[in-house]
Amino acid sequence: MADEPSINPLIELTQHAMSEVNNIILERLQSDVPLIPQLAGHLIAAGGKRLRPMLCIASSMVSSQNLKKAPEAALYLSASVEFIHNATLLHDDVIDASNQRRGKQTANALWGNEASVLVGDFLFARAFELMVETNDIWVLEKLSLAAAQITEGEVKQMSMQGQPDSQKSDYFSVIKGKTGVLFAAAAQTGSKVGKGDNDLCEAFYNYGLALGNAFQIMDDALDYGASDGQIGKDLGDDFSEMKVTLPIILAWHDSTVEERKFWERTFRAGKQKEGDFQKAKEIIAKYNCIERALDYAKVEVEKAINSISGIPSSSLKDALVEAAKFACLRDN
Ligand code: IPE
Ligand code: IPE
Ligand code: MG
Ligand code: MG
Repeated sequence: MADEPSINPLIELTQHAMSEVNNIILERLQSDVPLIPQLAGHLIAAGGKRLRPMLCIASSMVSSQNLKKAPEAALYLSASVEFIHNATLLHDDVIDASNQRRGKQTANALWGNEASVLVGDFLFARAFELMVETNDIWVLEKLSLAAAQITEGEVKQMSMQGQPDSQKSDYFSVIKGKTGVLFAAAAQTGSKVGKGDNDLCEAFYNYGLALGNAFQIMDDALDYGASDGQIGKDLGDDFSEMKVTLPIILAWHDSTVEERKFWERTFRAGKQKEGDFQKAKEIIAKYNCIERALDYAKVEVEKAINSISGIPSSSLKDALVEAAKFACLRDN
């Protein structure tokens, strides 16, 4: 539908800078060890939405009040942010034993876990080199903090594995760490290299954080609610990994004694059999847990939009508002 929120306006308004960012990405994944560009190139060539670098570019342009051209430092910064994101994806697909990413086989499925972990480390290291090239210690501090928080989020998620009676507040702290803070830091540091003042950097931080949270809530809903082939990832990975996400927490809360026995077996005891994923989806549907999860995402989207309500009107501001709406209505 034509009037569904999309990231196309953001893509259009950042495309000039993003083509330079893509060149930096391709250049910096080179290495004399052929497996590195081969494996990293496989993931990066498969595309991805490039949302985090686009937000970084957009906030730098808004902050520098030049909507035509991004500051040079923002190009390096955006490449750095995408490298961090791709490093976490390589590691995440090992942890989640995932076989599909961006519509292609995962690197771990093709080259094995060891190679994926090591090349993920390489991308992290390259991300830090790129960060240094912004010549801004504050940027380095904020992105390093985000990188640490991503790992904290993933470790906290691991420690909640198999516990369907987890608290919503723990889930929210996980998604903030593993996803929200990178979106936040991308937008915040973009603003900084665009010479945004403290208030503007903070506004962009809050925008990115809320958008990232909405994005992850939606991602977790899609794992149960999407149709085959829609998201370029295998459905049900969260279920088979006993990952406690919002649809599960909501479903557990309302479940009957019998249904709780099902969650106890499939999650806590990790004993899953044919048909269980379908059954999980039925219980989730019975209590409207997808729709209810999306209501939480919508609250985050409102927060994101309010955070940047003070910036001057422009086509780029409209694109940022639309990107926030996309986060909870996306279908890929
Ligand atoms: C995937 O992020 C990981 C999550 C935070 C859900 P994206 O959906 O942004 O992944 P790509 O880069 O577009 O493939
Ligand atoms: C996102 O978590 C991974 C990170 C942000 C590190 P998920 O495990 O939900 O992401 P997908 O579904 O594999 O893309
Ligand atoms: Mg995963
Ligand atoms: Mg997921």
